[in-house]
Amino acid sequence: MDASIMDGRDLSAGAVSAVRCIANPTKLARLVMEKKFAADMGIPEIPVEKLITERSKKHLEKEKLEKGAHKADCPKNSGTVGAVALDCKGNLAYATSTGGIVNKMVGRVGDSPCIGAGGYADNNVGAVSTTGHGESILKVNLARLALFHVEQGKTVDAAAELALNYMKSKLKGLGGLILVSKTGDWVAKWTSATMPWAAVKNGKLQAGIDLCDTKTMDLH
Ligand code: GLY
Repeated sequence: MDASIMDGRDLSAGAVSAVRCIANPTKLARLVMEKKFAADMGIPEIPVEKLITERSKKHLEKEKLEKGAHKADCPKNSGTVGAVALDCKGNLAYATSTGGIVNKMVGRVGDSPCIGAGGYADNNVGAVSTTGHGESILKVNLARLALFHVEQGKTVDAAAELALNYMKSKLKGLGGLILVSKTGDWVAKWTSATMPWAAVKNGKLQAGIDLCDTKTMDLH
C-alpha cells in the first residue's frame, strides 16, 4: 500500500510506500509526518490476507490474464481512497491511500505517496486528492497542477477540468480528483469511467458515482 497526507497550515507532509499489513496506511503516513514511528505508536498490524478481498483477487487474476494493466483500466482497479477537508479555522488537509492491486501486479510505487501528485494541501490555495493512472499523475503533478489553475483565478470546476484534460491529452492518462478551495468551493471530477465520491458542506451531503447522477441528502 501507498499513502500520503499533508497539512495545509505549514505544508508538513508524510508518506509511506510499499508497506504491508498496515490496517490504515494514512494513519502511518500521519505518524511519519509527525515524526513518530508506527510500531512505537502501536499502529495495529493485520495479516496481509485480511487486506485482500475476493473482488481484488479476481481483478488481479483478470489483469494478469490480460498481461498487465493498460491506462484505461487503471482507475477502476487502483483501489485509491482520498479525502480533502477545510475546517472552520480555514485549515486545509488532504490524505490519499492506495490498496495496491496495481502495485502488487507490476511491483511499483504509485503516485499516492508523492506530494504534488497524489495530493496537495496549502491553506493559501486549497487541497486536492487524486486517483487514476499513477504514472500519468506523477508526470503532470496532477494535484499541484489543479491548484496552480486555482491560483491563476480559475473556478474549482475549470481548474479540475484543465488539469485532468491536460493529463489526458498529453499522456492519454485517465483519472479523477477531489478539490476544495480555501473559500470552501469544491469539485469532484474525473475522466475515468466512474468515480465514487461524497461531499459534505453546510449540513448537506452529496454523493455520486457516474456523471449526472448526484444524490443529495440533508444531514439535519
Ligand atoms: N493512483 C494510484 C496508483 O496508480 O498507484
